[in-house]
Amino acid sequence: MNERAEWKFSEPVCSDALKQLLTRHSVGPKHLVPPAPTEEQVWLAVGAALRAPDHQKLLPFRFVLIPDAMRPLLGELFADFARRSGKPDEEVVIERNRAMLGPLLLAFVVRIERGHPRVPPHEQWLAAGGALANFLTALHMMGYGAKVLSGRKAADPAICNAFCGPGETLVGWIAAGTASKAPHPRHNDNPDAILRRWQLPQGSQNAPQS
Ligand SMILES: Cc1cc2nc3c(=O)[nH]c(=O)nc-3n(C[C@H](O)[C@H](O)[C@H](O)COP(=O)(O)O)c2cc1C
Repeated sequence: MNERAEWKFSEPVCSDALKQLLTRHSVGPKHLVPPAPTEEQVWLAVGAALRAPDHQKLLPFRFVLIPDAMRPLLGELFADFARRSGKPDEEVVIERNRAMLGPLLLAFVVRIERGHPRVPPHEQWLAAGGALANFLTALHMMGYGAKVLSGRKAADPAICNAFCGPGETLVGWIAAGTASKAPHPRHNDNPDAILRRWQLPQGSQNAPQS
């Protein structure tokens, strides 16, 4: 495509649901306040995650709800990682407090089946990414903000072991709640950058004759 179609908010093509999708954005945990999504709404968002394309329905992902009572324990894991990484005391405190941010916190875990006869690892990762995106979009559509966070600590064996079984990868955490401020306007959505008509490389013998 050479010119961008009038895709944004043009009725009747653009349903209310699509408008919601086109305005999804992340909200950092510092800007997330109560109320959190209810448990029922979390189940709905998980249902949306299950609608992501998933070759052979391998379900290579899962969500782990972190109960509030477990947050201090997570905070100690974060603090311990910061200490082992040689962080000064004040940063250890900041890391510990990260576990308390956001009214709702979940972990996102992926399990890739290596050597699957029909579904290579990259397809399984894409299925997991699609599920994560659907989950975030569903929360946005229910009026909540959320953000995925990882960092080096997500790869720390002690932290991974707290969430993962053998062969699983801890992708990171999803903080969710109600956005305390309006999002920054975004100007960088540019479909032109990612949509082109297919053309064979110049000089290709297979190019259609005109
Ligand atoms: C798996 C994953 C891990 C991420 N980890 C972090 C992180 O640790 N810190 C961060 O600031 N953003 C992280 N991000 C990016 C944010 O979640 C967010 O997508 C990004 O800030 C862009 O904002 P937007 O979703 O509004 O486009 C991560 C995203 C993904 C998908």
